[in-house]
Amino acid sequence: EKKGIIFDLDGVLVFTDQYHYLAWKQLADELGVYFDEKINNRLRGVSRMDSLEIILERYQGEPLNQVQKSELAEKKNEIYRNMLQQMRPANVSAEVRSCLKELRRRGFRLAIGSSSKNAKLILEKVDLLGAFQAISDGTNINQSKPSPEVFLKAAEFLRLEPEECYVVEDAKVGIDAAKAGGMIGIGIGDAATYEKADMKVNSFSEILSVI
Ligand code: BG6
Ligand code: MG
Repeated sequence: EKKGIIFDLDGVLVFTDQYHYLAWKQLADELGVYFDEKINNRLRGVSRMDSLEIILERYQGEPLNQVQKSELAEKKNEIYRNMLQQMRPANVSAEVRSCLKELRRRGFRLAIGSSSKNAKLILEKVDLLGAFQAISDGTNINQSKPSPEVFLKAAEFLRLEPEECYVVEDAKVGIDAAKAGGMIGIGIGDAATYEKADMKVNSFSEILSVI
């Protein structure tokens, strides 16, 4: 029997995936690198530095060293964090809020499992910090998805076994991570068409009828 649900943040609870896209797009334009929504889908769930490597696959300039790469990642993060300043509680839909409430009412323990180092800032801005019993994010992991690390930590923080948890994800690598960790992966958004997802939902509230 399942007792916990671990939610990815970007692209599942909030649409910060659009801000990630716009911030990377700005950096890519400055570097003269082609970037579009399809490439952006490959960045879902992937750490900041790994995302930069994907952007740089199309970079034609002089080879960049680690210091320069860190500076580029830092620059993207500054653009992104400026965008995050606009976030308000209204950026979380009534559907998401009531669904989380219903899941808590049904007795599920809820956690965040996000690759982002900005997760707590976002949760605070949209007033969702209190909705979760545990937060596992980019600040407590060494390997990003598809490694199951972030979800295994979330289960541990909830004091549950991985097998007792569902994971809700919009990233294909996130579904891979959930399965690698022995959890049930529920695909939403970009992952709603992923053949490896154990379950697929077309809207957030549909979670209530599949679990
Ligand atoms: C994930 C996003 O949640 O966090 C990725 O899906 C992002 O696109 C990753 O790269 C890391 O985010 P941050 O905020 O630490 O740069
Ligand atoms: Mg995501």
